[in-house]
Amino acid sequence: MFNDFRELSEKCAECRMCELCETRHNVVVGVGNENAEVMFIGEGPGENEDLQGEPFVGRGGKLLDKMLLAVDLDRNKNIYIANIVKCRPPKNRDPKPEEQEQCIKWLRNQVKLINPKIIVCLGRIAAQKLIKPDLKITREHGMFFKKGNFLMMPMFHPAAILRNPNQKPEAFDDFLKLRDKINEICPGVYENI
Ligand code: URA
Repeated sequence: MFNDFRELSEKCAECRMCELCETRHNVVVGVGNENAEVMFIGEGPGENEDLQGEPFVGRGGKLLDKMLLAVDLDRNKNIYIANIVKCRPPKNRDPKPEEQEQCIKWLRNQVKLINPKIIVCLGRIAAQKLIKPDLKITREHGMFFKKGNFLMMPMFHPAAILRNPNQKPEAFDDFLKLRDKINEICPGVYENI
């Protein structure tokens, strides 16, 4: 456990706790405001993220940024974005349970330091790992789950929305629910934006 966010990020960037370190170009530690009250957590870096060292910078990331902007959220201002695994799984396969288990230690440390009020899980892998193993994203997206000090919400993964554009209205609805919840429990998120 690191108590300093910069030290955490530096050590994470050197991690060799699982085999994904052999094939990565960059460790994708995360991006955003270290004091954010809202965190978004995806599955793991894809090709673009691996090359650039930042989460959600490909086509899915552009869609995510648009939906965030629609509810006045901005990765460089009032949220923090990270992933369950910080290194790209080869050919974008699902991260293995043992890779998730090793890497989630970094995420837990990030969550401890950031101490958000709301955690949004983007897609099945993040939602099942962080909320409950049998979560059904098609049925339970947009719902809030209280876990310890956090309110957690599963959402569709942006890549899934790109594959299934008919999910867009439902996905957008979830962002509106998120905005309402932010206004209710952490209105400071929208100050100075
Ligand atoms: N998909 C994810 O889950 N995370 C990223 O950072 C990029 C794509």
